[in-house]
Amino acid sequence: MATTQIKVNPDDLSKIPAGQERIPEPTILVIFGASGDLTKRKLLPALFHLEQVGLLPKELVILGVARRPIGDEFAADMREGILEFGDVDGADPKLAGFLQKIHYFAMNFDDPVGYEGLKRELETLAEANGIGGNRLFYLATAPEYFSPIIDNLGAHEMARPDQGSVRVVIEKPFGHDLDSARALNRDVNAVFDEKQVFRIDHYLGKETVQNILVFRFGNGIFEPIWNRNFIDSVQITAAETIGVEGRGPFYEKAGALRDVVQNHMMELLSMVAMEPPVSFEAESVRREKLKVWQAIPPIPILNAVRGQYGPGKVDGVMVKGYREEDRVDPESGTETYAAARLEIDNWRWAGVPFYLRAGKRLKKRATEISIQFKQPPLMLFNRHNSTGPCGEIQPNVITMRIQPDEGISLRFGAKVPTTQAMSVCPVTMDFDYETAFGKSTANGYERLLVDAMLGDQTLFSHRDGVETTWALYTPILQAWAAKTPEVFPNYFAGMWGPECADHMLERDHKVWRHI
Ligand code: BG6
Repeated sequence: MATTQIKVNPDDLSKIPAGQERIPEPTILVIFGASGDLTKRKLLPALFHLEQVGLLPKELVILGVARRPIGDEFAADMREGILEFGDVDGADPKLAGFLQKIHYFAMNFDDPVGYEGLKRELETLAEANGIGGNRLFYLATAPEYFSPIIDNLGAHEMARPDQGSVRVVIEKPFGHDLDSARALNRDVNAVFDEKQVFRIDHYLGKETVQNILVFRFGNGIFEPIWNRNFIDSVQITAAETIGVEGRGPFYEKAGALRDVVQNHMMELLSMVAMEPPVSFEAESVRREKLKVWQAIPPIPILNAVRGQYGPGKVDGVMVKGYREEDRVDPESGTETYAAARLEIDNWRWAGVPFYLRAGKRLKKRATEISIQFKQPPLMLFNRHNSTGPCGEIQPNVITMRIQPDEGISLRFGAKVPTTQAMSVCPVTMDFDYETAFGKSTANGYERLLVDAMLGDQTLFSHRDGVETTWALYTPILQAWAAKTPEVFPNYFAGMWGPECADHMLERDHKVWRHI
């Protein structure tokens, strides 16, 4: 397929005018569960990237909190994480100063005495570093600690600011079904006002995800055709080549639907389908997203399928099946692949199917959204020879590549240069992020961490949104839990998922996009 690359001159890129960057107030960032992978692999590298570009307040303390008494080893461990996962040079002139900001406090999350100690530690650090009352509590622990930590912050008077602002960031999973999400929301809102709460979904920190709104609402040509009159169907894929990566016990309780579909994929869907918000502010954006989820009718069980990988070859390497993974039940019924067909019953989308699929150990790593347009009403070309030199005429497709190989492409038909006939072949116009804007080492948490420090909730989930998406998937989870699948594993690692996912689309005379 021919490809036309659109190039952007980096010198033309608009820069944020000096002095207009949003720099948060002096803050203590308290990370609960700081000895876990997330802190080392994502949070600290992201914080250092922010330091490199001058977007952190000068007076910042990062206080890691976890059970193990590791003291100064913590900062050394974080240094390693910053270098390895943040792609940072050890000689970076800002690194030594940044590491000075990192402190550690050991405590048990369910021990009230520990919270008294934590409170004193925060007062001491604030005093020593010229920081007033601003606190950002980041819950990166196992989910069973979310409520105890929140209760204790309330009970020990750390949740309400005397002066400054107190905010709490809550990692996923936010509940494991509708009831548990509601219970967690109740616990959270018993201590914190909704304005203080930042439920994080790291997909919203990705540039390519934010760009969906820019693509749609920052350009004049797409929105007029972004509806049921022109769009035939939408496919959203989150395909991973990795397996469960040592997270067996977590994944056994989660599965693909809870882990990725209910949250990341529903966020992507809402960005593609929402109405233009009245402004790019938290309330307007979140209201429009919620309206999309509320317009989705219950998903018939027939329109949700699950799969589990057996052994197979991924990228030429033999890998074991899910049931052979460390600390996974050898008869596990947990799905490592989930797909669903949804509709959105509103004026813009009625009748347009949205197909979602997510899985581990698939053939290729690719997260993308593809919007397939309707065929022209009259086929003028490739008429007498319906196959043509490139086969049948293909419908137009806009594909947003979220990762890797970030970009957007438009497929359209072009005349094949020949004097003999009017033959049409598909070609693509392609926008590639790296070519246009250079390589980025950002991992998505940079934007979300700054926004949380600034109190900007636009890219965070509201309680109503979380409950609405859980309400959609809970009946499916219940139906799946009631019946262990007989045919698991039902796809080989390195394939595109189980056959039942293909059959679901065949009913609509469709196929999954070939990636
Ligand atoms: C996490 C899931 O939320 O998202 C993981 O728990 C998954 O299982 C990951 O691998 C995917 O994130 P990304 O940014 O690599 O697409």
